[in-house]
Amino acid sequence: MNFPIIAPSVLSADFAHLGRDIEMINASEADWFHVDVMDGVFVPNISFGFPVIKSLQKLAKKPLDVHLMIVQPERYIKDFKAVGADILSVHYEACTHLHRTLGAIKEEGMKAGVAINPHTPVHLLKDIIKDIDLVCMMSVNPGFGGQKFIEQTYTKCADLKAMILASGSNCLIEIDGGVNDVTAPKLLQAGADVLVAGNYVFASSTPLETISSLKKLGSDTSQHA
Ligand code: DX5
Ligand code: ZN
Repeated sequence: MNFPIIAPSVLSADFAHLGRDIEMINASEADWFHVDVMDGVFVPNISFGFPVIKSLQKLAKKPLDVHLMIVQPERYIKDFKAVGADILSVHYEACTHLHRTLGAIKEEGMKAGVAINPHTPVHLLKDIIKDIDLVCMMSVNPGFGGQKFIEQTYTKCADLKAMILASGSNCLIEIDGGVNDVTAPKLLQAGADVLVAGNYVFASSTPLETISSLKKLGSDTSQHA
């Protein structure tokens, strides 16, 4: 895998032309589809559910990175597997029994991710970091695309990277929210592996080039280069 992994967020696609936007991502240098599921309870917005993801999966030629912004996500693990999720991330703040939930996700053959809200300190993951395949670090408050990046994320990302290295875990760091040409290079310096980009890609008049420009940052700044 070439780093950084680029995961355009389908939330910012044009749902009246979803097939076209999926084909754009297929043809691009992007690595994953980032799929945001919101329930109107955990976050103050509702996005889309199983029928949309199932249709997306029929056309998508790249892995589906599904980010659940829902309460009690453990209730739906098998359903997300059934509609094609490859990576399934649950929120730390939504899981009373996080260890059990991650085990159940892996049991279904998916990679297990944990998303953390901007206020959640990374040290809370210390005793479970070896069981996590991906930490989705929110750099905005979850619920909407196109929000302003929270600057504290750089420090937080560096702290998490140090924790991962110290633990010997293979966990990837994904940054979600406000990723663009200004924030992305600094995030890669801080140790980010995966960049989610919604508005930056889909508001671009040349989305293929925008994705390519993010991918190319790997050769300049990524610690994986
Ligand atoms: C926010 C979602 C993000 C969102 C990112 O709750 O989790 O994935 O789509 O959008 P941008 O890149 O526009 O901030
Ligand atoms: Zn997301």
